[in-house]
Amino acid sequence: MENYLLDWLQLGVRWLHMIAGIAWIGASFYFVWLNNNVRKPDEPNAPDGEKDGELHAIHGGGFYRVQRYALAPKELPHDLHWFKWEAYTTWLSGISLLVLVYYLNPQVYLVDTAIAKIGSGAAIGIGVGFILAGWFVYDLLQRSPLGKSQLAFGIVFFTLVMGATWYICHTFGGRAAYLHVGAMLGTIMVANVFFVIIPSQRELVNAKEQGRLPEKKMAEMAKNRSLHNNYLTLPVLFIMISNHYPMTFSHEYNWAILGAISMGGALIRHWFNLRGSRKDDIPVGANEGASMRHRQGKSTPLWPWAISVTVFAAVIWLTAPKKQAAGAPVAFKEVDALMTKHCRGCHSEKPTDQIFKVAPNGVKYDTPSQIAVMASKIKQRAVETTSMPFGNKTNMTPEERALLGRWIDQGARTE
Ligand code: HEC
Repeated sequence: MENYLLDWLQLGVRWLHMIAGIAWIGASFYFVWLNNNVRKPDEPNAPDGEKDGELHAIHGGGFYRVQRYALAPKELPHDLHWFKWEAYTTWLSGISLLVLVYYLNPQVYLVDTAIAKIGSGAAIGIGVGFILAGWFVYDLLQRSPLGKSQLAFGIVFFTLVMGATWYICHTFGGRAAYLHVGAMLGTIMVANVFFVIIPSQRELVNAKEQGRLPEKKMAEMAKNRSLHNNYLTLPVLFIMISNHYPMTFSHEYNWAILGAISMGGALIRHWFNLRGSRKDDIPVGANEGASMRHRQGKSTPLWPWAISVTVFAAVIWLTAPKKQAAGAPVAFKEVDALMTKHCRGCHSEKPTDQIFKVAPNGVKYDTPSQIAVMASKIKQRAVETTSMPFGNKTNMTPEERALLGRWIDQGARTE
């Protein structure tokens, strides 16, 4: 009963996490897009304040006209939406989910004894420390002289994240390791909103109220942090969905795969940013009637895409499963014994596992045909990757995995 209710709770929190995440990232993509697409307004000196950009759009409900003030409107509006709860809700629900799934059962979800044997308390300590350390190191670097150069900072930060990824992939099971890198980067993003971006917006409002110019330093810092958040979105979203794909997190070089795919994702984001910045100087009304493509002016260089696609293709090629040696024929009864030893504790009509009380994903291996029909999936999860048994709870050996693989290569016969 307890596990059943916990499942519902996890489902609810996961649902909330997704909705909040969509609202947050969606709004931030929209504002990046707005900033890239507003044009010089027809009437910059309107009675309510000086404008430096405007844009017309059409969407579901009708036509919209968005205007950006050069500094602030003459009168502060009564209702000012801050877009902060989207970020906070994403983080709060994400951390709750981390606790509900991973920290409630650390031996199942965090620890993989084939990688490192760690006690439950220590595992949770490492997880929490890892996430917090990310923010402290990032923030310190940003405030140091290194923070002044985007390129130098980018290189140092990427190298440190790679080091951290290597460490956590050699400490936790692949799935938990990936998730902690995602949670660490996500925490940096939300902390940027909480500690820098929102205070800088508050400074804009205070300055307006006190009739002075806002502090430049804060605004610059906030702009920088927004840019970093912008680059981090694609890697973080990749990590969040990666736990459905064991060929990434369960691979021997899982840390390098995460680094390569994140870099590919950030480069694609870079291309969109380059494309956006090239449109800045085109006045409204230029190329009236021309196609959208035309309006975008000079074309954006394609090198970020070229590198991304090459990196993705290289990852796919380099991590492809290797062919196994043919070897002696394997009898089904050997496989059946492996299933009892390593799989049926969970994948059965009546699981005996302490945590998984119903067959995970409805996958059962009680009968020969249930096993044969899943042969290729079994190969993927227990031979080509070591993502099954879950957390290698039953300590399945490489020899046992090879045996299972040979049986499948020989046609997965059950007679
Ligand atoms: C401790 C419990 C546990 C054990 C033991 C276990 N699994 Fe799993 N298995 C799970 C869970 C939980 C999932 C769902 C999450 C996932 O897909 O990673 C799953 C999912 C799977 C899937 C994916 C099913 C789908 O929906 O596509 C396959 C295939 C699989 N297991 C095979 C195996 C094999 C083969 C073994 C034995 C070598 C095994 N499992 C042992 C818990 C277990």
